[in-house]
Amino acid sequence: MKKISIVLATLIAPVILMADMDRCVSCHGVDFEKKALGVSKIVKGMSEAEIKASLDGYKKGIGGAMKDLMIAEVNLGVDTDAMAADVYTETLIAGFDEPNDEFIFQKRLSVKTLHKLKMNIKKSDPKKDMGKIASQIKSMAFTMYIYDDLLKEKIDFKKMKPSVEKLNIKTILQRVEKVKTCVDHSFAEKEIVKCRVDFVNLAGELTQNKAKSIRAKQKINKLPIYTGEGAVDISKYLK
Ligand code: HEC
Repeated sequence: MKKISIVLATLIAPVILMADMDRCVSCHGVDFEKKALGVSKIVKGMSEAEIKASLDGYKKGIGGAMKDLMIAEVNLGVDTDAMAADVYTETLIAGFDEPNDEFIFQKRLSVKTLHKLKMNIKKSDPKKDMGKIASQIKSMAFTMYIYDDLLKEKIDFKKMKPSVEKLNIKTILQRVEKVKTCVDHSFAEKEIVKCRVDFVNLAGELTQNKAKSIRAKQKINKLPIYTGEGAVDISKYLK
């Protein structure tokens, strides 16, 4: 297995993703086709939802006779969605072949930040925190954009429009969850870039919505030009 460099490994909290999969498969078999240590269920053939349910079980301390072993594994990760997507995909693909270290690093970074964003949105106040959440999304999208050349080719800020659907905390959460699921199930650059396009588009819509509301306010608040006693005639300067 390729080793992730120590610098990168300390930068990122261990979300269990492909890089840690080598440990899992050493007990479960490269396609999760074995009874691990002779006792686990055969994971290959389980649905992604079933895998997630058993991982969530271990997170809560529930499992079989050897659950302690798996509780330790699951607690290394923060996100059982990404882990279940990983495991499920591994059961479908014959053999064991990891993406390159840079991809793993980029995916982990995205999974971790999207997970955190999801949690922030869930605990936010729908009435008060809309601006805060919008700012977080915009700055995340910007960071994503500047580091991803593939994404740059696919994004045109000038063409972005205000959102068609109403964006509030609930609809934003749905959009972010969709992006997160997309990232969880990406195992190559050209897959993950599609999820990022959706995310940057969300940020673009939020920016355009804000611009639209500022323009509207500006119109309402504009006072008429002074035309009373002593007024300077500026009509020739106005288009
Ligand atoms: C040292 C061996 C070992 C390692 C390493 C290991 N597992 Fe397991 N795994 C087990 C055993 C044993 C069980 C059954 C535990 C129990 O009694 O509930 C299990 C259960 C599971 C189950 C649920 C299947 C069932 O029996 O219900 C899943 C899913 C799973 N492991 C995934 C993983 C993943 C993902 C990793 C890597 C992050 C991993 N395992 C690492 C041994 C291992």
